[in-house]
Amino acid sequence: MQSLPDTPIPTFVVDSQEPANVLLADEIAAIHTEHAGRIVLGLATGSSPIGLYRELVRRFQEDWIDFSFVQTFNLDEYMGLPADHPASYRAFMFEHFFEHTNFGPRHVHFPPTVTEDLDAACSRWEETISACGGIDWQLLGVGRNGHIGFNEPGSPFDSRTRRIELAESTRTANSRFFQDADEVPHQAVTMGIGTILDAKRLRVLAFGETKAPILERVLRGDDDPSIPLNALRRHPDAALYIDAAAAAQLG
Ligand code: GLP
Repeated sequence: MQSLPDTPIPTFVVDSQEPANVLLADEIAAIHTEHAGRIVLGLATGSSPIGLYRELVRRFQEDWIDFSFVQTFNLDEYMGLPADHPASYRAFMFEHFFEHTNFGPRHVHFPPTVTEDLDAACSRWEETISACGGIDWQLLGVGRNGHIGFNEPGSPFDSRTRRIELAESTRTANSRFFQDADEVPHQAVTMGIGTILDAKRLRVLAFGETKAPILERVLRGDDDPSIPLNALRRHPDAALYIDAAAAAQLG
């Protein structure tokens, strides 16, 4: 693993996804030990975190890391999909992580997607995060347009959990998880950028050549406030783990 010099957010380039997954799983395990198993994780969906979840499941099965007192908060969820829809983020998390471990069913939290009084439900969700003591460790992916969670470009850096209109480019990129591209919802609920910045540690996974242009803009460009990933410049403990393909334009 190589640390990239002179980046506005600490950045590490890995030869393959595996060492990044092992390193992040080690970090979670260390915080878990330090806090006697009572930690709060912020979790992400997409292709990038799948290997990390596999590594954590392996540790649960082989080394017995106990998740029964761990609380989780997912970053985002689509509006208008039934919870058991295979492309919902709830379904994703159960398939790749929760159903293979011993998370307490009441300890896994997803942003509210109710149609009535959504604003009040989002405020209650933020209060639940605070009542759990805040997020100790937050995982993030990055969209090709620089979104984090579903905070699309232009989202204020102090935004809180809310409904958001998805960019067409995001709908196209995420259509691979749906049988039909028309099925991709137009709206989602996402933790705000301000909510994300409140987490104690932020760790970003970005793999593959499709992430190279946005990483070049963020890590080699100006501090453009319209790009959500740039918000991480303002966090004292944020780091990016990227592979060689994602780092291809960083010189
Ligand atoms: C979705 C999620 C984001 C995620 C992004 C990147 O849009 N809402 O939270 O970071 O996808 O996903 P991938 O890891 O598949 O590139």
